[in-house]
Amino acid sequence: TTDSTETLQTARGCPFAPAEQHLRFLREQPVTKVMLATGREAWAATRYEDIRTILSDPRFSADRRHPNAPRLSKADGQMADSPLPKMLLEMDPPEHTQARRQVIGEFTVRRMAALRPRIQQIVDEHLDAMLDGPRPADLVKALALPVPSLVICELLGVPYSDHDFFQVHSAQLLNRAATEQERQHAVLELVIYLDKLITAKEQEPTDDLLGRQIVKQRESGEADHTALLSLAFLLLIAGHETTANMISLGTYMLLQHPESMEALRADPDKIGNAVEEMLRYFTIAELAMARVAREDVELSGTVIPAGSGVVMLANAGDRDPEAFEDPDRFDIDRDARSHLAFGYGPHQCLGQNLARVELEIVFNTLLRRVPGLRLAVPAEELSFKDDSTVYGMHELPVTW
Ligand code: HEM
Repeated sequence: TTDSTETLQTARGCPFAPAEQHLRFLREQPVTKVMLATGREAWAATRYEDIRTILSDPRFSADRRHPNAPRLSKADGQMADSPLPKMLLEMDPPEHTQARRQVIGEFTVRRMAALRPRIQQIVDEHLDAMLDGPRPADLVKALALPVPSLVICELLGVPYSDHDFFQVHSAQLLNRAATEQERQHAVLELVIYLDKLITAKEQEPTDDLLGRQIVKQRESGEADHTALLSLAFLLLIAGHETTANMISLGTYMLLQHPESMEALRADPDKIGNAVEEMLRYFTIAELAMARVAREDVELSGTVIPAGSGVVMLANAGDRDPEAFEDPDRFDIDRDARSHLAFGYGPHQCLGQNLARVELEIVFNTLLRRVPGLRLAVPAEELSFKDDSTVYGMHELPVTW
């Protein structure tokens, strides 16, 4: 009954650990019914293997507009009411398979490697500005937010003259001090902007993700303007805050682990491995992973009834001792590549190779160029995003 169902805790408490409740579920009730803050019931899964099953098993649907789809916050509801056509993230096969096949070629390791010089330039420019400015500086504002935003501009082919507009509005989307109305205004401005951008590219296709999609659509005779708008908007919201939060959390983690910083300075090639461990350690997007069971499914001895919403507490899953030895230890030398931070299965993060390149460049550049980097306030004063579906930091005051 409702009374005996625990409310799902969404705040982590300690930034370096999953919520206490989620770890208890992992130990005691790996698949359990919970009440969400929005008043909906859902099932929570915490074991690494169960989460991989849910994310890859066609008996679970990714349809966020399903009446039982887990809604953790009011904002999730707005996505379900979005006037845009279904986004990749919400589609099921075969629709999803088809739509993803259209864009997957834009995110290959090779394409991402080609973006490296430009990403390095963006990082260097922002670091120059930070180092020339007053101390202390907020690393979130100086680096973590603008870098991914400009990289998305690069990817989508937003002209240089529109970068400021694009950045201001996408920062507003994530601004906790903004009112709901201001945020909705920012969404509208961005949608209108992307709509115009796509129209311009339809007239004269450019050599960038959107331009190439337009050419591809024409070749197959399936021109679809609103589908492109949905894709552009998804890339913007999926690639901005996530990467920004990993930049600030990863920097903070390094500052807390001088021995790891030294090891990385001595051998910058280790950064790829360290980034995987950071991704595992924080698993920031866990509350964003939700599904609906299409049939009764038994997992770890518990039956999830058909039609139920399911949340995957992947941060606990990435601390499952059956998957990672001594899981609470931060160890940049471990092999963490099989973590759940990018999800798993058909919806596994489309932008993961891009995120990796961005994170590697940011951390290596910080280590190389700002050897004296340190926190400008005591660690207890830092403020973490316990109020958001994607975990991160509100500010990271640093000096050097
Ligand atoms: C999907 C995390 C960066 C684009 C996902 C999913 C996760 C995730 C967990 C799966 C959601 C699910 O199964 O329900 C992250 C993290 C990032 C990051 C932690 C940064 C560290 C990016 C970037 C982009 C991007 C930079 C693109 C510019 C996408 C897209 C999807 C997705 C388009 C949906 C794929 C699909 O449904 O087929 N991401 N992401 N992400 N991500 Fe990322």
